[in-house]
Amino acid sequence: MNGGAARDASRDHGRDNGAMTPEALVPRLPSPLEDVADERFARHGVRLLLKRDDLIHPDLVGNKWRKLAPNLRAAAGRPVLTFGGAYSNHLRATAAAGRLLGFPTIGVVRGDELAGRPLNPSLARCAADGMRLHFVDRATYRRASAPEVLAALLDLLDPEAYVVPEGGSNSLAVRGCTELGAELRGHADVVAVACGTGGTLAGLAAGLGSGQRALGVPVLKGGFLGEEIRGLQRAAFGEVRGAWTLEERFHFGGYARLPAELDAFARDFEERHGLGVERLYVAKLLYALVALADEGAFPAGTRVAAVITGRP
Ligand SMILES: Cc1ncc(COP(=O)(O)O)c(C=O)c1O
Repeated sequence: MNGGAARDASRDHGRDNGAMTPEALVPRLPSPLEDVADERFARHGVRLLLKRDDLIHPDLVGNKWRKLAPNLRAAAGRPVLTFGGAYSNHLRATAAAGRLLGFPTIGVVRGDELAGRPLNPSLARCAADGMRLHFVDRATYRRASAPEVLAALLDLLDPEAYVVPEGGSNSLAVRGCTELGAELRGHADVVAVACGTGGTLAGLAAGLGSGQRALGVPVLKGGFLGEEIRGLQRAAFGEVRGAWTLEERFHFGGYARLPAELDAFARDFEERHGLGVERLYVAKLLYALVALADEGAFPAGTRVAAVITGRP
């Protein structure tokens, strides 16, 4: 980090969440919490912290370890079938876990037009890790969680498979992410995270202590996420939990959109702080936080922790 300002504020947190985890998946937990010197925050009296979930595991990066580990325990060695788009970080993490732990993985991929083409680097990595890829058309993909569509997919691919939904966000995953909030108790006032399905935010918010709040930055356009997160929390905890809000202005046109302004911002952040900035999620989160600090959204004295959920 910049100018020697980095320090690990959570090193003494001292819980071993790797207990009971197969050796190949042993995580670095709690993930480090780093204090960074950034004048765009400092001039408003705001402290920026980076919660380095990107350092949890070399193959199951960021929120992927927190979401997948409880599901893999539940799958107990059965084949794991899951869903994702052509560049899904979740598919890649699931395939890597399958390789590391020696269980079969099946990826249902959105877009049957991809079936006849060479695999992109992300899907090629999945295949190299042993994932069986099955391409479906977009209409089928959208309805994949409907019981009859899912039953047909299981029939075709593996009736014994353990199913993990798109993005890995089921109740086990949401409960797994509460630990992220628990690790941050006492260390931050606002904890911000980029949202796809919202599963990470749903768990994070539930795990924070009193007086802390979570701020989600959706990377998809649509305004539907609040209801989905409430649904995920009700399914995981029986109720809506924690103090959380969404800041919906920073999707930059939608998923995987990377306008030149956002790319330049990410490159500048990398130069300032020596941190590789993942472009689909983390860049939008950090951009949003700088913009909010500039708007005066955080009172002086606020400690803002940005969860670094991925790596470029
Ligand atoms: C790097 C990164 N950050 C954040 C997210 C968002 O997680 P969630 O789907 O739980 O909102 C994802 C999801 O795939 C991700 O890959």
